[in-house]
Amino acid sequence: MPDVAFQKRVDEWTPEVSARGWARAIAELSDGNPERGVILVAEDDGGLLGLVSGSAAEGDLSGTTCEIGALYVLPRRRGQGIGGSLLRAASSHLAGLGYTELHIGVLSANRPARAFYEAMGGHAKGQGTIDEEGYLLPLTIYTWADITDLNRDWTVPPWTAERTRPN
Ligand SMILES: CC(C)(COP(=O)(O)OP(=O)(O)OC[C@H]1O[C@@H](n2cnc3c(N)ncnc32)[C@H](O)[C@@H]1OP(=O)(O)O)[C@@H](O)C(=O)NCCC(=O)NCCS
Repeated sequence: MPDVAFQKRVDEWTPEVSARGWARAIAELSDGNPERGVILVAEDDGGLLGLVSGSAAEGDLSGTTCEIGALYVLPRRRGQGIGGSLLRAASSHLAGLGYTELHIGVLSANRPARAFYEAMGGHAKGQGTIDEEGYLLPLTIYTWADITDLNRDWTVPPWTAERTRPN
């Protein structure tokens, strides 16, 4: 992504804009849009540590494939199992909503995230693109053909908090 387009993103995606976007997404989810989706956060006494969102995969007509839209852990708390727990917790919820397969598209240039998805058992099965500020960036699509593989021998930890409405 060219520097000028990246800087535009940084300038426009202020914390306030992001907070409004998430508040809207949480309110819409609690109103049933999307019908089968989930937003989870990880938190401790100091506040939010990370978040994950998931819903029906774009263009999936079968109703059986879901995708993770966002997954983020605070930089200072990475490498402590939080991202893996969020992904597993979201997968557990999505499986409960009837999905059987999971897809995640990640920027091909995002090598740390690709290493993370590979460590979580994902298979790089396809390629795609995402339009960022008019630039088409390559995506690698990771799949879990059986979403329950992520949750085998794992239970949702008590510190994972679900929000269906803003506080
Ligand atoms: C990707 C991200 C969510 C991972 O979260 P995390 O809390 O650091 O990951 P975890 O500590 O739970 O790691 C889970 C597994 O992935 C592995 N892993 C995580 N980051 C890795 C890296 N950079 N390189 C290699 N392996 C990695 C861990 O070693 C661990 O494997 P193990 O279970 O075999 O020990 C986090 O780095 C992040 O928020 N990145 C920025 C946002 C982003 O890129 N999101 C994905 C967009 S699609």
